[in-house]
Amino acid sequence: MAPVMEKTAAQESLRGHLRTAIMAAHELLDHAMQAASGWQTRDDYARFLSLQHAARAPLETWLAAHAPADLVPPLQTKLIARDLSALGACLPPASPPFDPLQTPSRPRPDGVFHVEHAALGAAWVLAGSALGNKAIAKQVARIGGGDWPTAFLGDDAMMAFWQGLRARIERPASPAEADGATRAAEAVFAHFLAVADGAQGLEKEAESLKA
Ligand code: HEM
Repeated sequence: MAPVMEKTAAQESLRGHLRTAIMAAHELLDHAMQAASGWQTRDDYARFLSLQHAARAPLETWLAAHAPADLVPPLQTKLIARDLSALGACLPPASPPFDPLQTPSRPRPDGVFHVEHAALGAAWVLAGSALGNKAIAKQVARIGGGDWPTAFLGDDAMMAFWQGLRARIERPASPAEADGATRAAEAVFAHFLAVADGAQGLEKEAESLKA
C-alpha cells in the first residue's frame, strides 16, 4: 500500500500544487508592485501598466514561439498599450527575454525539458493573474472615478481563456508535468519580480533627484 503522503500528493490537483508553490513568490511580487507603482494616482496607474507591459512582452513572445496553440493566452500587451496611450504615457522598453528554466532557487535541470509542461505553467500564471486584475479593476474604478482606461484589467478574453484552462489544471498531474509547470511558473514570478525591482529602483532614483 502506498504511504498516505504519496497518495495525497498524487491526488492533489495541478492548480492546488501550483498555488502552494507560488504563494510566497506571489506575496513578494504583490508587495514589490505596490512599492514600484501601486495605482493610487493616475501617474501610479500609468507606472503600474508600464511595468505590466515590460514584464509581459517577453512572456508573450516566448509563449507564441514555444507553446502549443491551446496554451497561448490572449495577447494583453496590446490592451496595455491602448490604456497607456489613453493615459498619455509612452511604452516602456522591453525587459530581458523570458527563460523558463531561470528560477531563483533551483539549478538548471540536466534532464529532458518538456516545453509543453513549461508552457502550461507560464500560461497558468498569466491567466491566473486575471483573478487579481479583477480585484484591482474594482479599486481602479473607484479611485479613478471610472475615468481611467481598463482594457487590460477588464480583459474578458483572458477570463474566458482562464475558464478553459481550469479543466486542464483542476486534475492531478504526473510528477514530471507538475514539476515542469511549477518550475516555469516560478520563473515567470522571478521574471516579474526582476522587472518590478528594476522599476522600484528607478522610482527611488527619481525621488532622490527631486529631493
Ligand atoms: C499587483 C498586485 C497583485 C494583486 C493585488 C493580486 C491579487 C490576486 C488575487 C486577489 C488573486 C485571487 C486569489 C484567490 O481568489 O484565491 C490572485 C491570484 C493569482 N495571481 Fe495575483 N495579484 C497581483 C499580481 C499578480 C501578478 C503580477 C501575477 C503574475 C505574474 C499574478 C498571478 C496570480 C496567479 C497565478 C494567481 C492564482 C490563480 C489560481 O487561483 O489558480 N498576480 N492574485
